[in-house]
Amino acid sequence: MKVLIFGRGWMGKKFFDYLNLQGHTVVLSDADITREDQVVHAIRTHAPDTILNCAGKKGTPNVDWCESHREETFRSNVLGPLVLKTVCEREGKYFVHISTGCIYEGNNNGRGWSEKDSPNYFGSFYSRTKAMAEDLLGDGNILQLRLRMPVTSFPESGNLVTKLVAYRRIISFPNSLSIVDDFIHAATELMKKSCMGIYNVTNPGTVTHAQILDLYKELVDPNYSYSVMSMEELMRITKTGRCNCVLDTSKLAAEGIKMPPIREALRNALSTYALQIDAQNSTSL
Ligand SMILES: NC(=O)c1ccc[n+]([C@@H]2O[C@H](COP(=O)([O-])OP(=O)(O)OC[C@H]3O[C@@H](n4cnc5c(N)ncnc54)[C@H](OP(=O)(O)O)[C@@H]3O)[C@@H](O)[C@H]2O)c1
Repeated sequence: MKVLIFGRGWMGKKFFDYLNLQGHTVVLSDADITREDQVVHAIRTHAPDTILNCAGKKGTPNVDWCESHREETFRSNVLGPLVLKTVCEREGKYFVHISTGCIYEGNNNGRGWSEKDSPNYFGSFYSRTKAMAEDLLGDGNILQLRLRMPVTSFPESGNLVTKLVAYRRIISFPNSLSIVDDFIHAATELMKKSCMGIYNVTNPGTVTHAQILDLYKELVDPNYSYSVMSMEELMRITKTGRCNCVLDTSKLAAEGIKMPPIREALRNALSTYALQIDAQNSTSL
């Protein structure tokens, strides 16, 4: 594949490294996706077959930022993807977009939310923009990958584990998660097959934040402690809500793409995480 990535952030760089290692031709663009002239220029310059949109605003330090920066969030999360869709259609390019599972709440009576279910979580401006973009891009000739609460093996700011460890007081409900390495591998397989439509790209099974932190205590830091708070308490200290949801991953499995079960994948990720922390500690001595 010859892939042009928009969005030089956390996921954009991870995709760049992975695709490069796999021997694909890959370019990381710094174009503003809301600017059609810049998008067209990048596509004509690099002549890719695939456009991967990793650009967007998710809020720094967290999603509360999007509540007070609605125009920037709307432009990057809704207008930008629409510009990419229009240009890709006109230039005959395969368009792949990163969406999110954070447009659902709950577990759909134990079935998990499938790609056919309409979003039911509108509690944050971020989630509303992501749902709007998904709807506008459609379930047709674009590949949309739903990433959820990404976890990696490294102590880094984007990693859900690193975030939870820093909070110390957490909410804890069953959730679907994406182990980033598994997500990128699955996404690449879908792209190689030129799949289209929306896919839930999460590891099968569910886990709570407390279960993640218990595993952290077991594998990384036995002295770590945390406490669980209610959603009502959380709402008193944040500007906007946080969703908890379980996604149905059978569509991805039916495509023949397997992601390891979340509990097993988390244990592996945290085992490596522990080694990374040990290595950091020994170099800082
Ligand atoms: N990480 C998560 O927890 C998570 C979960 C589910 C879905 N997602 C989705 O995954 C995608 C990538 O997220 P990420 O974690 O890689 O976020 P990230 O690290 O913040 O990267 C996003 C990048 O997009 C850039 N950007 C924003 N607006 C842009 C525009 N108009 N044109 C070009 N670039 C623009 C950002 O630049 P600035 O920093 O200058 O704004 C940033 O470099 C986003 O669509 C996000 O909604 C992320």
